[in-house]
Amino acid sequence: MAFPPRFLDELRHRISLAEIVGRRVKLVRRGREFTGLCPFHNEKTPSFSVVEEKGFYHCFGCGAHGDVIGFVMQTENLAFPEAVEQLARRAGLDVPKATPEERQRAERAATLQGAMEAAGAFFEAQLRAPEARAAREYLSGRGLDEAAIKRFRLGYAPDGRDALKRALAGTFPEPLLIEAGLIHQSDDGRAPFDYFRNRVMFPIGDRGGRIIAFGGRVIGEGQPKYLNSPETPLFAKGRTLYGWAAARAAAARDNSAIVAEGYMDVIALQRAGFGTAVAPLGTALTESQIEELWRLAPEPILCFDGDAAGQRAAARALDRALPLLKPGHSLRFAVLPAGDDPDTLIRRQGAAAMRTVLDAATPLAEMLWMIEKSAGPLHTPERRAALRARLRERVRRIAERSVQQEYIKYFAERLSPPVDTRRNLPRSGRGPGGWRIAPTRRDRPRRPFLGAADWLGQEPIRAPDPENQLPALGEILLAYVLNHPFLLAEAAEEFAQINFADAGKLDSLSRKILELHHRNPALDAETLKGHLSRDGFGPTLERILSPRVLEFARFARVGADVESVRSGWVDIKRRYEQQCLLTQIAEAERSLAVDTNEETLARLRHLQEMLHASQAKDDELNGDLA
Ligand code: UTP
Ligand code: MN
Repeated sequence: MAFPPRFLDELRHRISLAEIVGRRVKLVRRGREFTGLCPFHNEKTPSFSVVEEKGFYHCFGCGAHGDVIGFVMQTENLAFPEAVEQLARRAGLDVPKATPEERQRAERAATLQGAMEAAGAFFEAQLRAPEARAAREYLSGRGLDEAAIKRFRLGYAPDGRDALKRALAGTFPEPLLIEAGLIHQSDDGRAPFDYFRNRVMFPIGDRGGRIIAFGGRVIGEGQPKYLNSPETPLFAKGRTLYGWAAARAAAARDNSAIVAEGYMDVIALQRAGFGTAVAPLGTALTESQIEELWRLAPEPILCFDGDAAGQRAAARALDRALPLLKPGHSLRFAVLPAGDDPDTLIRRQGAAAMRTVLDAATPLAEMLWMIEKSAGPLHTPERRAALRARLRERVRRIAERSVQQEYIKYFAERLSPPVDTRRNLPRSGRGPGGWRIAPTRRDRPRRPFLGAADWLGQEPIRAPDPENQLPALGEILLAYVLNHPFLLAEAAEEFAQINFADAGKLDSLSRKILELHHRNPALDAETLKGHLSRDGFGPTLERILSPRVLEFARFARVGADVESVRSGWVDIKRRYEQQCLLTQIAEAERSLAVDTNEETLARLRHLQEMLHASQAKDDELNGDLA
């Protein structure tokens, strides 16, 4: 939800930044500022300062800065809207609901949520009924006692067609129960029936721990082993993590995060004292789940089976994470003994064994190295070259520049050959075949930077081979407009505002498109492309409308339906805007590091606000790139 700027200003006015910061940091007044030890990095002498009247904090040590909302987000692991809500409560302000539609959606969600909560209570109660004996035995057979059942709100969905339906029918209308995914309308014309039947029920919570979905496990053997609620307005599987609310509370204390595969693992981990355990819901980790994990801890540990399937799952998670890596944020990989998951390991060998596995977790970079290197021995130049090429491909996918540079250095150092054929030759004299050779200087320290440049070459990183590179968001935006020029008619102004970097002629192409549109607003896609080709943009079009780009932009393709095109376009446009903001923020940060002045700080704050506002809109499901 977007908050009106006036409301945010009012909020910042009413809240004392020093007071909020003072909850975490011991502040000492120094003239117009307060100073203290920075909560964002380890330090012994204070370099963290709070300028109350301007409403921002800044750390001269680590560069952390922001306003009161940012501070609460950072220190309490909250999303922007959550931080705003918390502060608003404190200030006694009502959080405005911006539009009637938003208000309506919120009300609808509240009712749906009420139904889920009621269903949860029903399942819990049913677990005590005589018919639930097998379910109770199943749970105790898996080591779960009464306390665990209560803590994780486990329940039982009775057998039969409509136990839940009958129980809730008095309170909730049938269509609502269908929308909540609790009952299912079949195509055969018969009355809707309970979605979960004869299953042990695991409630799935949202960020605040409110029930938004269920996982139901068969008792004993059967298929599917776990049945999850369908996607509903409350529940987006790819954005949800089981155990999240409890994990966040625990992460505020110990700043860790553990990702297991299933419900039972999370329960076993949390019971064994690993309070920050969560799990995705039967799918590989998604990008948004990775972002969520980083709100718990900078380096979440992913647990995988020691077998081949586990290795594949780890490789997949790693691949997902590469484009998302940012300074200080990564993943680690814990490998369990073959055949074990955290649940069985803890049951067989106790929490200490689990601790050992977690402590031995491998950093992402190392994992990547191991995966790529495992193809076989490296004693021929060809194999080394192939490894180098594979690593280069991977590193290219890291979007964040400084992290990418560090990966280049890291792999360059690891790849540096045991015998460096140029540097290790004696300086004078002739080698075999009459080559001039140079002397060895074994004691000279290696220079990793040179190594890095050698290894990857500066060229490929600055101007990556377009065939192999992920499409830039700007390219995707242009693909949308080229294939669906109706977007221009609807949003020519907005399109004109977009700032395309001129790499690859994108900027001149966009100006040409606008010019053609102004001359003839009713241009269809084919005519538009025809004009552009005649004006010399043929190769650029070919590049933009290639599978390399369209593979990532489903709705930019010809034939996508109008609604998907519109929403995809809005989504990509917002991401592009965020990308631009991030670049500008990084620039402002760099210039602050050289010269701290209020003007730049104010600019930075403004940029961060715009970014937050834009990110707050991200709550809708991701479109094309997801
Ligand atoms: P597992 O089969 O490894 O789950 O699937 P588990 O928790 O170890 O199962 P048991 O109860 O101990 O035998 C891992 C996760 O994948 C999802 C569930 O989230 C499960 O916890 N899953 C699995 C499904 O969604 N559907 C299935 O049919 C199976
Ligand atoms: Mn298991």
